[in-house]
Amino acid sequence: MFKPKKRSYGFRKAIQEPSWRASTLIPVATAVVTGGAGFLGSHLCDYLLAQNHRVIAVDNLDTGSLQNVEHLEEGDTFTFINHDLTKHIEISEPVEVIFHAASPASPIDYARLPLHTLKVGSYGTHNALGLAKFKRARLLLFSTSEVYGDPQVHPQPETYWGNVNPIGPRGVYDEAKRYAEALTMAYHRQQGVDTAIARIFNTYGPRMRPHDGRAIPTFVRQALEDKPLTVFGDGSQTRSFCYVDDMVRGLYALAMSDEHLPVNLGNPTELSLLEMAQTVIRVTSSKSEIVFEALPVDDPQVRQPDITRAHQVLGWKPEIGIEEGLRRMLPSTEREAESVHV
Ligand SMILES: NC(=O)c1ccc[n+]([C@@H]2O[C@H](COP(=O)([O-])OP(=O)(O)OC[C@H]3O[C@@H](n4cnc5c(N)ncnc54)[C@H](O)[C@@H]3O)[C@@H](O)[C@H]2O)c1
Repeated sequence: MFKPKKRSYGFRKAIQEPSWRASTLIPVATAVVTGGAGFLGSHLCDYLLAQNHRVIAVDNLDTGSLQNVEHLEEGDTFTFINHDLTKHIEISEPVEVIFHAASPASPIDYARLPLHTLKVGSYGTHNALGLAKFKRARLLLFSTSEVYGDPQVHPQPETYWGNVNPIGPRGVYDEAKRYAEALTMAYHRQQGVDTAIARIFNTYGPRMRPHDGRAIPTFVRQALEDKPLTVFGDGSQTRSFCYVDDMVRGLYALAMSDEHLPVNLGNPTELSLLEMAQTVIRVTSSKSEIVFEALPVDDPQVRQPDITRAHQVLGWKPEIGIEEGLRRMLPSTEREAESVHV
C-alpha cells in the first residue's frame, strides 16, 4: 500500500514533541494563516482547529470578512489579528507553521487592486518568509495555476514554466505569484527556510462571495435568482474545479510533508464552462437560460492539473465530485443571496 512521505522535523517535530500547556495539558503546534478571513484561509482555520492546532489568523479584510471566522471563539486556540501583511509583522509566541494565503484572488479583485496585489505578493510574501525564518517555522505559499498562464502544455505538470502575459490585466496576479514562488525558493536555498509551494487550481465551496466574479459563485447566484447564466466566449474553455474540503486536506498534507518544490493541488476532472453552467442549472433546478458574453482578455483556454506529484508525494487526491460539491455549497449561497436582498 502507498505510504505518504512524512516530515521528521519542523512542524511534525512540534507535533511529536509538543510544548505542553500547563493549564490544559493539550499538545499544540501553532499555525499562522495569513488571509485567514478569506474563503480558503477560513476553511483552513476550521480544519487546523479540528486537528487541535492553535491558530492565529492574520488578515486586513481587503477581500475577506470577519463573518468567515465569527464562529471561531477568540481565546487559547484561536486569535484574529487585523494586519496588512505588506507591513512588517511580529508575533510574540512560538509558531511552527505559516500558511501564506493573503492575496486578492478573484479577477474582479485583482483588477480593482492591481498595485496591492503586486505588493502583497512581493512585500507580503517577504514579510511572511521573514516571520518563518525568525520563528524557524515551515511556510506554505498559496501559489496558483495562474503561474501557467494560458498554457500550451495540457494537462499542466509542475515542470511546465507557463505562458504568461506580464502586461495584460491578469499579469498583476500571475506575476505576483511567480515572484512569490521565486522569493520562496530563494529563502529556502539561501536562508535555509523550510518552505513548500502549493499550486492551487480553481477551488469552490461555501463562503465564496456571490459577487466575487469567479465562475462557480457567479453561476450559482444567477441560477438561484433564475437569471441568465453568463458564459464568456462560446463556453468551450475548460476549467477543473476542486471542492474546498479536498483542497484543505491537500494543503495540510503538503504542510506536513518534507516537500520543497511546487506541488499542484486541484481536481483533474475537466469541464467546459458551458458544461459547468449546465451542471449548476441542473443541480439548482433553476429555470435560467445561458447567455454568451465577450471573452475577457487573456482568459486561459484550458486548465487541468496533473496531480501525479501530489499523489506520489502526499498520497492525496480529491474525492468530492462537482455535483456533490455544488450541493454542499448551496445552502450557504442561498443564505448569502437572501441577506443581499434584505
Ligand atoms: N480559491 C481559489 O480557487 C484559488 C486558486 C488559486 C490560488 N488561490 C490562492 O489562495 C489564496 C486565498 O484565496 P481565496 O480564494 O481564499 O481568496 P480570498 O480573497 O477569499 O482570501 C484572500 C484573503 O487575503 C486577505 N488579504 C489580502 N491582502 C492582504 C494583506 N495585504 N494583508 C493581510 N491580508 C490580506 C484578504 O482580506 C482575504 O481575506 C490566495 O493567495 C489565492 O491566490 C486560490
